[in-house]
Amino acid sequence: MEVDLVIRNATVATASDILPNQDIVVKDERILCLGQGLSALFKARREIDAEGAFVTPGGIDSHVHLHQDNSPTGDTFATGTRSAIAGGTTTILAFASQERTDESLFPVVEEYHRRSAGQSYCDYGFHLILTNPTPKILQQELPVLVKDEGISSVKLYMTYQPLKLVDRQILDVMTSTRALGMTTMVHAENSDMIDWITERLEERRMTDPYYHAVSRPNIAEDEATYRVISLSELMDIPILIVHMSSKIAAAHVRKAQTRLLPIHAETCPHYLFFKSDRLRGEHFEGAKCVCSPPLREDQMDLDAMWQGLKNGTFTTFSSDHAPSKFDHPQGKKAGLVNGTTSFRKIPNGLPGLETRVPVLFSGGVLKDKISIQKFVELTSSNPAKLYGLDKKGTIAPGFDADLVIWYPSSRKMTPFALTNDMLHHDIDYTPFEGMEFENWPRWTILRGSIVWDRENGGIVGQMGYGRYLKRGRSTLSKPREVFVNEFRPY
Ligand code: URP
Ligand code: ZN
Ligand code: ZN
Ligand code: ZN
Repeated sequence: MEVDLVIRNATVATASDILPNQDIVVKDERILCLGQGLSALFKARREIDAEGAFVTPGGIDSHVHLHQDNSPTGDTFATGTRSAIAGGTTTILAFASQERTDESLFPVVEEYHRRSAGQSYCDYGFHLILTNPTPKILQQELPVLVKDEGISSVKLYMTYQPLKLVDRQILDVMTSTRALGMTTMVHAENSDMIDWITERLEERRMTDPYYHAVSRPNIAEDEATYRVISLSELMDIPILIVHMSSKIAAAHVRKAQTRLLPIHAETCPHYLFFKSDRLRGEHFEGAKCVCSPPLREDQMDLDAMWQGLKNGTFTTFSSDHAPSKFDHPQGKKAGLVNGTTSFRKIPNGLPGLETRVPVLFSGGVLKDKISIQKFVELTSSNPAKLYGLDKKGTIAPGFDADLVIWYPSSRKMTPFALTNDMLHHDIDYTPFEGMEFENWPRWTILRGSIVWDRENGGIVGQMGYGRYLKRGRSTLSKPREVFVNEFRPY
């Protein structure tokens, strides 16, 4: 039989196993079969010798901000997804973001389709950011978007004045997401604590980037995390708490999971590697690391994020790619006007879509901090299951042939220190500048096509090859029909 691609002699790593000497056979964008000694049975239009190399499922980054109006100097779908494939990510979930004044979600989703159609190098889907959850939107529009657009998740904010919902609005949203089987993502920080401290810091002229971290203490995340777990328990719905950074907040999640509540959580590369002293750089450089929740002061929090990756507290490991250019008046420098600093005006968020997978491979797997199976689970398999991507997230017959081939240790790539000019985003810095990498994706393959070939052309995929993905329900968790008392929310 003639097939499209055979990858020979790979060490296949999935979320459960490490399988040596595998031939992976790809036909019509999918994995036809894998096993030992298969390559002799097929005539392949293209072969790759992966002798000794790990092959892992294409990365799925389930938290990416592209072309949002609130970050005018960030990445577009073209530049963001270009950087994704160069870093071993073959699927992203980006946000279609409702403005407070938007009375309908349909034009919002249409607008994000316009921004992404024909622009994407990798496959992509949308989460909805809900900032104005009216009865019409919740009862009439969400069901249509689930069914027709395959949008099976929403993100809610408990902080940021233009975005935040109060608890009773969150309960309203949860009533609908419960009925529709959607996953509810929550940005958990206590808004009033942050606003109140921010005002006091401004009165005291403590406005340098570093005070961004002071204005958002751990306790703001800890409290909001516990509160939204309580809201979820009251409503009996699965949630995912995004971008967690605090040890105590993670302990709240852990405790809820031990009680079998359907609580999921996510952390991000920067919360594993960086502390808040990064915000103190000279020449306003600290603004480069302003994100929310902020980088934490104490190594204890970073250690807790590693522990949570290992012990299963965290379901997913996402980039929260939310970049702004540094040297731009509408970028990070919006917080520096005529020599006067204002951390409140620095756009929040870091670039990290391209570095997410290599950072965890090099800084986690190769440093013996997590197993390669755990790496696959966090960067690909769990996001696929949690967000209803039923053809992605593992290497098995019938699944999309989304693969990352790493350099084998025998034909080692030379370890290198990362510089921003090696990356493919449209951002003028990376917080990972100077970090040593012992490995990097040698090839990235999306639905059977090579899209990244580090030694022959780099980006070889085409803009527009990436497809919009309609998603189904989460297969990781659903309501349990367990309630706090005789009251039923429906
Ligand atoms: O600082 C961050 N994370 N900004 C991006 C928006 C968000 O809250 O995810
Ligand atoms: Zn635009
Ligand atoms: Zn957020
Ligand atoms: Zn985000």
